Amino acid sequence: MTVEREKQLAAEAAAQLVEDGMLVGLGTGSTVAYLLPALAARGLSLRCVASSPATERAARELGIKVESFRGPGSVSRLDITIDGADQVARSGWLVKGGGGAHTREKAIAAATDRFVVIVSSNKLVETLTPPVPLELLKFGLAATLQRLDTVMLRDVSPSPEGGVIADFTGPFEDPEVLAARLSSTVGVVEHGLFAPDLVSDVVVARGEEVERIALTA
Ligand code: 5RP
Repeated sequence: MTVEREKQLAAEAAAQLVEDGMLVGLGTGSTVAYLLPALAARGLSLRCVASSPATERAARELGIKVESFRGPGSVSRLDITIDGADQVARSGWLVKGGGGAHTREKAIAAATDRFVVIVSSNKLVETLTPPVPLELLKFGLAATLQRLDTVMLRDVSPSPEGGVIADFTGPFEDPEVLAARLSSTVGVVEHGLFAPDLVSDVVVARGEEVERIALTA
């Protein structure tokens, strides 16, 4: 129950960072599920984009206006994005994609002025560890799997773009080195390592306390 309570507190604190008239990116997952009602309750006039069909549906049900993030005429820059994470290292590196939405989440984070990560305290780690979520191109999948070597396919639906969701399970020490390797592997659409330069704030709840942690990078 503490973890759920911490997710809720972090999400509610982050909802207060949103201001009237902002363009807002909405992440995916159980922590973001607490953000949406907190945001809706503020009654602000917002334009939002969602990182998954599940978030889009949940936001709309709460009366939050969700716009397209597809196509050349869609929104191209966001004021703030709020999203969860699976692991947060002091260095600011994140592992995301537990829900398989990391490709869209990274596209939104990269188009955002302020990317706020909301987590319960159990997500804070000294060093990141596998698995690292992947989205793989279906075309040439067997060859991509061979190139990656240590990878497990998830038994889940494809991404909204038709990508295959998997996890890189090999050991790694430096997330920057692994991120560069994964980014340059043909057939990897996106990976769940988020670099510190994407991250503006980490809002973490410990028990009933909420803090913004300083990142060392
Ligand atoms: C989904 C994500 C989520 O933000 C991450 O998995 C954390 O999820 P939760 O808030 O449910 O613990 O990256 O792809």
